[in-house]
Amino acid sequence: MKIISDIQDLRDQLRGQNRAVFVPTMGNLHEGHLSLMRLARQHGDPVIASIFVNRLQFGPNEDFDKYPRTFDADVEKLEKEGVYVLFAPTENDLYPEPQEYRVEPPQNLGKILEGEFRPGFFQGVCTVVLKLFSCVQPKVAVFGKKDYQQLMVIRQMCRQLALPVDIVPAETVRAEDGLALSSRNGYLSTEERSEAVQLIQTLKEIQEKVLQGKLTPSDIFKIEQDACIKLSTRGWVPDYVSVRKRHDLLSANDADLSSNEPLVVLAAAKLGKTRLIDNLEI
Ligand code: PAF
Repeated sequence: MKIISDIQDLRDQLRGQNRAVFVPTMGNLHEGHLSLMRLARQHGDPVIASIFVNRLQFGPNEDFDKYPRTFDADVEKLEKEGVYVLFAPTENDLYPEPQEYRVEPPQNLGKILEGEFRPGFFQGVCTVVLKLFSCVQPKVAVFGKKDYQQLMVIRQMCRQLALPVDIVPAETVRAEDGLALSSRNGYLSTEERSEAVQLIQTLKEIQEKVLQGKLTPSDIFKIEQDACIKLSTRGWVPDYVSVRKRHDLLSANDADLSSNEPLVVLAAAKLGKTRLIDNLEI
């Protein structure tokens, strides 16, 4: 595997590749990321991965400084997955001057759910993903459904900016007890780790209630509120637990509910100092 940090070197290395498939990451790779690499292999050749902890997508009080950086272990894992090039730019390679041109997602998608609680997050994600796409010029890129809204934001950005990149979604990989794999799980204490499973449990309970059927928007609102109360009494600080339409992440109205519109339930909540997110399609 070639490890490249310079944009021009990357372009030289990839010249003429027209089926390249790209998996952007922030490193600290776990089985979830490796499943993205395996899925990538089915959608093109060669597989290009990137590792870059993108300052632009972290808020001032978030975990940019303490975000786990495990480069050597990551390289070993990517070698085993047959990745052809690892693009690992430094901040100076990717942002040699202040990044003043940015991509701002539309309010209706970029400022809801994660966007409401992490101002600037999707602007940072879109800006870096567009820039990484411009460096790698992939035909296909793979994003995990664990970051459900991120996947939608990026798909919409590609569509609206006519970027010639097909976005492939990858299923969430879970621990045996159901907790979605995430680099941030490493922040959890032993006690918090056993409590963390309650997030997906809560989503499963909501999924079951919604599937039992014939609910109104106000029934759904009550279910969401009850879920937040339950998590709060267990010591969580929920940002949101919300049932949304899959295609636009807006709330479902009566007509949507009676026409069996495909839904997804999404949640974000803090356990101690760790903020976890998860979602479940209904
Ligand atoms: O999902 C992530 O790890 C990041 O948001 C991404 C897509 C690599 C952009 O920094």
